[in-house]
Amino acid sequence: MKKYDLEEQIKTPYLDAYKKYLDKHTTAFDVPGHHQGKIKTDFNKVFGPSIYKSDVNAPRGMDNLSHPTGVIKEAQELFAKACGATYAKFLINGSSEGNLIMLMSALKAKEKILMPRNVHKSVINGLVLSGAVPIFVMPEIDKNTEIVNQISYKDWKKAIDNNPDAKAIFIINPTYFGATCNIKKVVEYAHLKNMIVLVDEAHGSHFYFSSHSPISAMEAGADMSTLSIHKTGGSLTQSSVLLVNGNRVPRYDVIKTFNLLTTTSPSSLLIASLDSARKYLVFHGSRTINRIIKLAREARNRINEIKGFKARDKEYFKENGAYDYDETKVVVELDNLSLTGFELYKILKDKYNIQIELGETYVFLLLFTVGTKKEDVDIIVNALKKISKKYYKEDIVYPSHHYLKDSFPPLVLRPREAYHASLKIVKLDKALNKISKEMIMTYPPGIPVIIPGERFTQNVIDELKYFKKIKANILSDFEGVNEVSVVDELKLEK
Ligand SMILES: Cc1ncc(COP(=O)(O)O)c(C=O)c1O
Repeated sequence: MKKYDLEEQIKTPYLDAYKKYLDKHTTAFDVPGHHQGKIKTDFNKVFGPSIYKSDVNAPRGMDNLSHPTGVIKEAQELFAKACGATYAKFLINGSSEGNLIMLMSALKAKEKILMPRNVHKSVINGLVLSGAVPIFVMPEIDKNTEIVNQISYKDWKKAIDNNPDAKAIFIINPTYFGATCNIKKVVEYAHLKNMIVLVDEAHGSHFYFSSHSPISAMEAGADMSTLSIHKTGGSLTQSSVLLVNGNRVPRYDVIKTFNLLTTTSPSSLLIASLDSARKYLVFHGSRTINRIIKLAREARNRINEIKGFKARDKEYFKENGAYDYDETKVVVELDNLSLTGFELYKILKDKYNIQIELGETYVFLLLFTVGTKKEDVDIIVNALKKISKKYYKEDIVYPSHHYLKDSFPPLVLRPREAYHASLKIVKLDKALNKISKEMIMTYPPGIPVIIPGERFTQNVIDELKYFKKIKANILSDFEGVNEVSVVDELKLEK
């Protein structure tokens, strides 16, 4: 990792200019039209005046996100240096925007990209918008928890060798559940074969600031990466950063795509929170992240003492398809409990006022981030003890559904073609062998069960019926997935 200049990193150029602007109480004849809260609304009553007062757009002195030449430029340069990147762009629509920018700037229609199938929905959106062709590479799957982990180096190498015409590869560093691949070796091999390496680090922004975390995309030599600083780095929701290393994807294309996708009215609060989070992470990140890794280890040990729960650690993930593991993710497997992770997620919120990141059939996920405190661990441990008393049963045998995880549906049409094809709406029960026009998933985690261009298999239909039965939160085009949108194949051009 490159060493940065700490004297420089102490600066927060955007935050300082922002404060200066607010302190001046400027008379406004610009947008936003509430003119720093000079209207009486319910929002004002709930939050008080400070949010309205701070909500300014791009006034003089505070630079312009589309074409930065002043304090945003400076703040982005500091971010890039802190992460060892050539340059950085602030994103105000999350890593969802970062994934779109990466795919659209690196690939043109019909160019191939290798990727794992367990990507976030925004990556599939990027395939639709760019018109690129995905070649899905099968990741290792933990059959016990049904968690999809990573692609081994051997399988990455095989996929790269089998697809010499691919323009790029796409890596997730780490997955939602914390697994990483041997990213350094994969990047080296992809570059040897002249492929661009794009990385989704939505859940790994802290890797840049901790020596006890897996290595970051920039350290591994990847070309581009998107980081949700808001997820694990302490900035405000939606604020993320795109990092670019070198010029394998030309800067002109990156900036052009950034401006195609970015609002001309970005929130100053989001940008300022990035500037401030970067300084916090540079000066306190290492200590804080090492503290939360220890706290997460402690939490795993305490949870493992409660009947009905098995908190899975780094060694477990490494035995099940991870090269390395982000220990700030606490994945807990349910063991002899008469409820699913989906139900547990709801019970924790409704009965114990605890909001966890995600619940699935056999697992739930707790995120330990820069904000997690020891007291929070006591609260969840006590709640799990009570749940164990009520739901632990010695003789439970879990049904295994494995509908999907070891047989993703076949992709028969380019996602963009399926998206544009003529629409037919059919009942879910009648969708077998039809080509999907839509993406369907449970959220979180937002990993699609089917994407545009894939054929419905019986496994997909059964999985969706199962999600409906257990009342999981399903995102699809039609409420409750009673119906699905498919391609009218009679109207498909041959
Ligand atoms: C793996 C992955 N990539 C990208 C995203 C999108 O990130 P954001 O919420 O910052 O848009 C998510 C969001 O959950 C994600 O899990």
